[in-house]
Amino acid sequence: MAQLSLPKNSVPKKGVKHAPQEGRRLKNFKIYRYDPDTGENPRYDTYTIDLEKCGPMVLDAIIKIKNEIDPTLTFRRSCREGICGSCSMNIEGKNGLACTSAIEDYKGTIQITPLPHMEVVKDLVPDFTHFYAQYASIEPWLKSETPEPSGKERNQAPEDRAKLDGLYECILCACCSTSCPSYWWNSDKFLGPAVLLAAYRWLADSRDEATGERLDQLEDPYRLYRCHTIMNCANACPKGLNPAKAIAETKKMIAERAA
Ligand code: SF4
Ligand code: SF4
Ligand code: FES
Repeated sequence: MAQLSLPKNSVPKKGVKHAPQEGRRLKNFKIYRYDPDTGENPRYDTYTIDLEKCGPMVLDAIIKIKNEIDPTLTFRRSCREGICGSCSMNIEGKNGLACTSAIEDYKGTIQITPLPHMEVVKDLVPDFTHFYAQYASIEPWLKSETPEPSGKERNQAPEDRAKLDGLYECILCACCSTSCPSYWWNSDKFLGPAVLLAAYRWLADSRDEATGERLDQLEDPYRLYRCHTIMNCANACPKGLNPAKAIAETKKMIAERAA
């Protein structure tokens, strides 16, 4: 499903067109702007840059705009390698990482908005406070009553370690959760695909001894069962992960222990 929903702070109206730079390969970037301190409505500003003088990724263009045209443009980024998850945003209607999205993959003007259905702190920066609180609620750390072997790490068989593949790689970018219709409408109670994938990462860990307690926490009509297997999450994940599968595995664990 295309993600056309805008952030919660309302629909942008007027905008500023910045004078095009001189150059041979000009590209327009239409970017959502919102600063709550001004009391003004959100708007789109359009910037033109010369791709001959810009790196290949969308994040390169945004950094160039900030450095050379408009220092007020606000966004998050850190690693520029698809590792930190901080540059997640909506690019041409699809959630993704600006640092791993190539400009050449988009025809015409590239429209960029913050992740959908989150409050906006400023411009392209969504408020992750609730998302992080939900992540903390699943207690994302190893829980074990068995003391670790003195002076050694807890060993794990290669086949048990392999069960964490497709789970541990999550960078908490929230591209999946903010593309999930169930999360859009019930994010106060539904944990959403990112947090549920993280929860399953601990359920799947052979060293963790809190499986029953974790399943008790998840067995709830909203926290887990608002997932209706729409699969937007798997389509949105820039790391190729499948939160819907992790959610299905969690539901299976709950069904099996009840049988
Ligand atoms: S599969 Fe579940 S979590 Fe993923 S987008 Fe659909 S409803 Fe949301
Ligand atoms: S599952 Fe994928 S899209 Fe969701 S938070 Fe993790 S890395 Fe991002
Ligand atoms: S800057 Fe770290 S993932 Fe894009």
